[in-house]
Amino acid sequence: MNGLDVGVYGLGVMGEAFALNLESRGLTVAVYNRTAEKTTQFLQGKAKGKRIQGFTDLKEFVDSLSRPRMIVLFVKAGKPVDEVVETLTHMLEKGDIIIDCGNSHYRDSDRRFAELSGRGIRFLGVGVSGGEEGALKGPSMMFGGDFSAYIEAENKIGRAAAVFENSKCVSYFGEGGAGHFVKIVHNGIEYAIMQAIAEVYDYLLRGVGLSSGEVGSVFEEWGKGVLRSFLLEAAARVLRYIDPETGKPLVELILDEAEQKGTGRWAVEAAMELGVSAPTIAAAVDERTLTTLRTLRRPAQEAGFNGDRNVGEAVEAAKNSLLATTLLSYIQGISLLQAGARNYGFRVSEALRVWRAGCIIRSRIVEELYKELSWTPGEPTAVAFDKIIPQLEELMPQWLQFITNASRMRIPTPASMSALSYYLSLRSDRLPANLIQGIRDYFGGHMFKRVDREGYFHSDWGRSSE
Ligand code: 6PG
Repeated sequence: MNGLDVGVYGLGVMGEAFALNLESRGLTVAVYNRTAEKTTQFLQGKAKGKRIQGFTDLKEFVDSLSRPRMIVLFVKAGKPVDEVVETLTHMLEKGDIIIDCGNSHYRDSDRRFAELSGRGIRFLGVGVSGGEEGALKGPSMMFGGDFSAYIEAENKIGRAAAVFENSKCVSYFGEGGAGHFVKIVHNGIEYAIMQAIAEVYDYLLRGVGLSSGEVGSVFEEWGKGVLRSFLLEAAARVLRYIDPETGKPLVELILDEAEQKGTGRWAVEAAMELGVSAPTIAAAVDERTLTTLRTLRRPAQEAGFNGDRNVGEAVEAAKNSLLATTLLSYIQGISLLQAGARNYGFRVSEALRVWRAGCIIRSRIVEELYKELSWTPGEPTAVAFDKIIPQLEELMPQWLQFITNASRMRIPTPASMSALSYYLSLRSDRLPANLIQGIRDYFGGHMFKRVDREGYFHSDWGRSSE
């Protein structure tokens, strides 16, 4: 008897949806979950009548698969992945493939790849984006790890991916944790754009006085043009949804404390380690943390919208600021990708290619940046930045107006502000780092370079003559 094509370990929301997706693409699927009830529920519910077989015994699950076995994990990142990998390894044979589709840290995937290679098991770490709907209908898939395993996996689980203009949103980014690195950058951008959208919502709601539903309609309108994106569309839908129980916009009933699972922070840590500047991603992570520090909040009187200002103008300013901040969030992501590309050896444009559909940050901007990066030679960040500078210059007056007005109204805009200062720094011929170097040398003898001579120098800053 032929074995089943793919095994899915972990029947959380993503695992279930992905198993159904694989089956819908003509594959036979074995499923296993640590708690057996979940498997039974799935088989009797969504998986009923489909070519999906459930197992409550792990050995039987493993034995049911055709050789080389391909097991996809949808397990919580961190220790749980290590535990499952360890248990499975004892049941697998040389050449079998373990594919971690969770949001794992890329360094963990680097380590697992190395450890498993030594034991003859082929490992793939895959960044899967698109949430439950993506997992069910077609996610964006960022592979890293064993290349021969990728070729086989692309032919099987790669079938489940989203497609953009006949091109599957699947790619191989290099050995070890390359795929998870790209996914972490994706999530960093996701955090930054979500924060920027939230700031604009706050401004239009508390500052300008629109209702949640009206802000939703504004976002829907914006989403038809340059700002077209999944995240803005999602925000519009969330803002317009009325809670059937209370008749109020559900968004207004949600506690204003943002949670996070760590991928945004990992993007910031990666940026710090790799010497990349990503202030808008950092601001977004930081602001999520700040929202949870409730005991530190000391609400001041709100300075509302100044009636003599024009609502239409305020909305336009907010739109332009969102566009500028979003563009620069992608630039920061691209510069982080560029640094990762040096380690893993992938093409930055490849990440943008697979982000055009299926994933959370899909947008018209990604489509345009992809075109630019694939056509224009040069350093990706510089190519992308040069492309958007004229646009940012045009947006600048209204971007400033948004930040200034919001600040006057005591509405925080950390993502928009950080993007602005990032832009201003990159557009400065001379930055005040000369003074920082001078002070470092003054108190610590750290030396400095000069603009008029080669080499490092130290000064006693006049101390000898005191
Ligand atoms: C995706 C998402 C998804 C999830 C992250 C972020 O690409 O489908 O990035 O992976 O949204 O886990 O979650 P947190 O906001 O909880 O950190």
